[in-house]
Amino acid sequence: MTSSTSQDLYSTPDESTSENKAIDLRSDTVTRPGSGMYDAIMSAPVGDDVYGEDETVNALEATAASLLGKEAGLFLSSGTQSNLVALLTHCGRGDEYIVGDRYHIYTSEAGGASVLGGLSCCLLATDNHGGLQPDQVIASIREDDPHHAISRLLCLENTIHGRVQTPEQISTLAEAVKSHGLSIHLDGARLMNAAVTLGVPAAILVASVDTVSLCLSKGLGAPVGTVLCGPADFIRRARRARKLLGGGMRQAGILAACGLYALEHNIERLAEDHANARLLADGLSNIDSLRVTSETNMVYIEPAVDAHAELRVRLAGQGILVGPEKPAIRMVTHLDIGRSDIERVIDTIIKLYSTLRS
Ligand SMILES: Cc1ncc(COP(=O)(O)O)c(C=O)c1O
Repeated sequence: MTSSTSQDLYSTPDESTSENKAIDLRSDTVTRPGSGMYDAIMSAPVGDDVYGEDETVNALEATAASLLGKEAGLFLSSGTQSNLVALLTHCGRGDEYIVGDRYHIYTSEAGGASVLGGLSCCLLATDNHGGLQPDQVIASIREDDPHHAISRLLCLENTIHGRVQTPEQISTLAEAVKSHGLSIHLDGARLMNAAVTLGVPAAILVASVDTVSLCLSKGLGAPVGTVLCGPADFIRRARRARKLLGGGMRQAGILAACGLYALEHNIERLAEDHANARLLADGLSNIDSLRVTSETNMVYIEPAVDAHAELRVRLAGQGILVGPEKPAIRMVTHLDIGRSDIERVIDTIIKLYSTLRS
């Protein structure tokens, strides 16, 4: 058998130059590792991480924690698992967490905090930018009364559906609830998109919150993983919650290596995804009766109701995959999407939409 390098074994989507390659804009979770990431896997020192002996996992946890200005980190299999571990560690059974009604923790994590943690949820309407107002949050904190669940935690998210929350917005909310004894967890699945857009270090963005889930498998391009960061004692307790959920992994360094590679190489380049999203939004903005909005790496188009389903199907027929959401269709840029892909998407949508509307 001849020996091969990782470059021989794996071709990456960004190396494909075919004019007709599929353009997958459903999410930034669809990226595939490139050869640099595969090389990082091949050379990663590993050990049993449940015993704390995987050097690569330990390095990833320390690197993520330091990037976010927190004492410690914990490597988890997914954003959902990280958020759940955070909620189970912050709260006891019957405690209440406050969350925005469009936040992933509430809408898209299978109700895990209620099912597995016995937590009650206080749902608040988010504004058009995905934010919560301090007054609204304060009013939702329950009085100390035996009739009520105990308000324990405020859950925030950044970015929210692509929209950025500023350090001021976050710290105003955090200060407001801290004085009532609540803690704050931030779902930072796309925190780095917010940091790059604002041009502020991620640590500044999360300085006022207690814990953060930082996903490696969204815009940062790793195949798997999220690091939960926070105070050392919290992370020590979170490790037990991770074990409880079956999330203790063994030679997880082969996954953590991708995360380390992503933190080193793929943060600053998010600006390219943002520029591509802006190009797409601008290219579509002159189409009659198509509402277009965009921030960071997400573009939403709101076609006429009768054209929605057909547009998606016809785009798929042209090899362009977009999100299923309604009424707006979501398109997400990422590291496997280049400028020429965006130009093809703009041309295709302009043509298809004018046929559908004629
Ligand atoms: C804002 C947000 N939080 C959390 C998650 C959950 O991440 P995962 O799919 O890794 O469980 C996602 C997934 O897309 C997300 O968009």
